[in-house]
Amino acid sequence: MKKTLIDLDKNGNTLFHARPESKPLYHELPREKTFPTEEDMACEAQLSALGTWEPLSFKIKGWNEDEKFLENYWVPFQPREGQYNDRESILIYGIEGAKATDPCGLSQLARIYGYKPSENDMNIPTEARDLLTCMHEVFDYFELGRTFLVRLNVGGHYPPHRDHMLLTRPTFRLIAFLGDSVDSMRWEVEDKPVQFRPNTIYYVDTRKTHRLWSSSHKGTMMVFNVMKNWENTMKVLTKLKYQG
Ligand SMILES: [Fe+2]
Repeated sequence: MKKTLIDLDKNGNTLFHARPESKPLYHELPREKTFPTEEDMACEAQLSALGTWEPLSFKIKGWNEDEKFLENYWVPFQPREGQYNDRESILIYGIEGAKATDPCGLSQLARIYGYKPSENDMNIPTEARDLLTCMHEVFDYFELGRTFLVRLNVGGHYPPHRDHMLLTRPTFRLIAFLGDSVDSMRWEVEDKPVQFRPNTIYYVDTRKTHRLWSSSHKGTMMVFNVMKNWENTMKVLTKLKYQG
């Protein structure tokens, strides 16, 4: 018998599973894919100097209103065969022609396109971008790649993983916590719990192993992939909550 959230989504449609990840042999990859440029080194050293979990000073106001207009766009986020994991997403920036209800996970996209699209090519806003009035300041400030809303319902989780390992990563991550999930959601970076505040954006060093999970519905976050270049790195410094 087919089971909801294992085989079917909440509307009874067959779940679109992510393609199983293949693990690259890093030492066999072409040197130009793995060896950092001077710009990579400068950005990575400067971002490392900031920390792994640093709040930014953006003021997010109005999420509760925006959320009502987005309710019909949520789709399952990266379901995997045989696993219960209640996560949902809305795509905000994707490749040309992408819709808000398209999958957000790179492994799902790999199954559609036959290859993992580059974060650099996922910089086109979907129809949901303009509905997120609480984020317009951030959208206008950084040059963004793949960006999406994700919410964890009861039991929704991300097992231990890294988003990037190589210093040649094309983007770095910001995470916004929308609404108040402080009591029900846990985040750990390198096995240590980290603190977050509602309606606050953090620079997160997702090169480090991290995991998260939720014990209630609608633990909502926004994941930004910011183009890694010197200008965007300096823009993070300008917006750090704790300076000087
Ligand atoms: Fe991650």
